[in-house]
Amino acid sequence: MSTTKDRPRREEPYLRIDILSVVPQTFESVLGASIIKRALEAGLVEIVVHNLHDYGLGRYKQVDDTPYGGGAGMILRPEPIFECIERLKSERAYDDVIFLTPDGDLFTQAAANRLSMARAIILLCGHYKGIDERVRTALVTREISIGDYVLTGGELPALVVADAVVRLLPGALGDSESALSDSFQGGLLDAPYYTKPAEYRGITVPDVLTSGDHARIAEWREAEALKRTRERRGSMLGDEDDPVRGG
Ligand code: ADE
Repeated sequence: MSTTKDRPRREEPYLRIDILSVVPQTFESVLGASIIKRALEAGLVEIVVHNLHDYGLGRYKQVDDTPYGGGAGMILRPEPIFECIERLKSERAYDDVIFLTPDGDLFTQAAANRLSMARAIILLCGHYKGIDERVRTALVTREISIGDYVLTGGELPALVVADAVVRLLPGALGDSESALSDSFQGGLLDAPYYTKPAEYRGITVPDVLTSGDHARIAEWREAEALKRTRERRGSMLGDEDDPVRGG
């Protein structure tokens, strides 16, 4: 397998991602591992994590406050977010300022494909109960949810988005790992895969895969992908009774 280690580091990254968070430590382990780490090292992407406390107010670097009108939970104040984003925008142009929120547009492969074409994006992570609405109306250009459930903050969703986008950048996957055959890319889920041994605990690999007949293998994969998509994501094929809708 050819890895990015064999290639020279790119001078200019394809994409710059700025992540704004009140818990920047969350990102260390994921950004220091796997395909994202490799893409960072190869200069394909630049990811900068900003600690919103650095823009906090007063001696205690306050970033949140109680909601006007009362209610439980704290709200991120607008000043640290405005200051951080305005500073970044004075340095370069951004294609999108994305707020991760459960009431955003559901994240899809199509959205990941589109974001992988951007030059620079900001991922804004909410925390606590929410963020001041003025940030959303004045600064945010796109709102993304990674699913219909509520997490403690936007940090894990930001990592999900970053991972899905970075692996699409040219050279992020080794030559042998293609993103084109991923589930969703061709409008279908991916076919099942097998590796050695040909028989394990009495379960054998389908004969066609060991036949060496590439045309038959391609046909089998297409049929299996279709079958799997129909069973698991009928809505992708326009089926009415998609099992996913049952929750
Ligand atoms: N923040 C909290 N929950 C979230 C979700 N499901 N998607 C995006 N951001 C979130």
